[in-house]
Amino acid sequence: MAITDKSKGADAPPPDLLAVIRNSGVLTDRQLEDIRGKMLKGNYPFDSLELAEKLVREKILTSYQANRLLRNKPHGLAVGRYVILDRIGSGSMGRVYKASHRLMGRVVAIKIVAPEIAGNARIVARFQREMKLVGRLDHPNVVRAYDADQLGQILFIVMEYVDGESLTQKLRAEGPLDPADVVNYIAQAARGLAHAHEMGIVHRDIKPSNLLIGKNQVVKLLDLGLSVLMEADQHSTFETADGIAVGTVDYMSPEQACGKEVDGRSDLYSLGCAMYHLISGRLPFQGDSPIERLGKRIAGLPTPIRQVRPDIPSNVVKVLDKLLATSRRDRYQTAREVAETLEALLEKKPSRSIGETFEDEIPSDEYVEGTSEYAQQLDVEDRPRPAGVAKPKWNGKIAALIERAPWSAVAAVAGAIGVAFAAGVFVGKMFF
Ligand SMILES: Nc1ncnc2c1ncn2[C@@H]1O[C@H](COP(=O)(O)OP(=O)(O)O)[C@@H](O)[C@H]1O
Ligand SMILES: [Mg+2]
Repeated sequence: MAITDKSKGADAPPPDLLAVIRNSGVLTDRQLEDIRGKMLKGNYPFDSLELAEKLVREKILTSYQANRLLRNKPHGLAVGRYVILDRIGSGSMGRVYKASHRLMGRVVAIKIVAPEIAGNARIVARFQREMKLVGRLDHPNVVRAYDADQLGQILFIVMEYVDGESLTQKLRAEGPLDPADVVNYIAQAARGLAHAHEMGIVHRDIKPSNLLIGKNQVVKLLDLGLSVLMEADQHSTFETADGIAVGTVDYMSPEQACGKEVDGRSDLYSLGCAMYHLISGRLPFQGDSPIERLGKRIAGLPTPIRQVRPDIPSNVVKVLDKLLATSRRDRYQTAREVAETLEALLEKKPSRSIGETFEDEIPSDEYVEGTSEYAQQLDVEDRPRPAGVAKPKWNGKIAALIERAPWSAVAAVAGAIGVAFAAGVFVGKMFF
């Protein structure tokens, strides 16, 4: 059984497991009395390890809880009215757990925000404002947020639990996905985004790991409103002298990378990057370092997808092309438009594969020409930033360079930065 394996090598099990369980708050007083009664009658063993195994078999404890309790780590298994059942995963902003409501029994996912972020009063205040908006979202393609709270040092968000996997996990397990499936997933994500945008929320961190797919094939957007937390995160992009850019670098729009005000169209660019990655298994912008890859997207040179997957139908290439337009003026203007376009492609789809329905193939060299032009169209107008969003220094420098230099010069600078970064130089200080 998993619990015996995991406890090997760790501290010896506590002699009085019942006391540890009581401390954890995982079970009610009534359940504890029932267990004690059964132990006294000889129905349950006194040995801690055997007792834990018995309680797991009888589904009174989960394996995760039993392992924690056997290692004498009862703290954190009860969060407010929720009891932690299992650990789902961890990401850049904290850890995610499966949990159940103590009274109502509803199974939820809880994200416990990393303490270094939760300790930042300014970010917490912005987070609380954002959660007011997020609480109003209600759409089948958006993970529902039920609650957000702070208990002492613990900041957490309670949300709908999706029994499934993220598109990153799916990509890892299966490799590049069928274009028809991707069109379906991205269409659903676009529906969710349309709802969020109409409610005044820009996601700012659209990426495959924030797209969950349930066992029923419904795609749901995760982490809406949480980009405010990423300002304090050291891993999502890279450290700078005065802040961290919001959004994971490989899916970030050029205007976001430049520290410009973002709007819904920035999410559409990120959606394009996610779509590209899911279909081809590769990121649209290749490079050895995050800053090199960022430089390439600012210069507007995605690797033509047909170089990676020549069988992509032209209509899908066209959608990708428009999503990944460097200038947001050239992108789809609304998520609804993206959803409708993709849904129309799906309607035309025969039962085999979407790739076999399109004959007007675009030669890949035409695509390269189209994308290289984007560099000259990058909109770098310096509009006011939304209140409270820190503007990293390097963003401004890159933006200023682009305003002055032709795209080829920017590409050269980005290349040079990439080389320097790869050599371990702290670019923030060296260049900016
Ligand atoms: N509501 C949820 N339901 C089910 N799984 C979830 C939910 N929220 C997050 N997860 C899973 O938890 C893990 C960590 O998520 P997260 O902290 O958002 O990571 P990331 O920084 O990669 O976005 C991911 O594997 C994700 O699929
Ligand atoms: Mg996430």
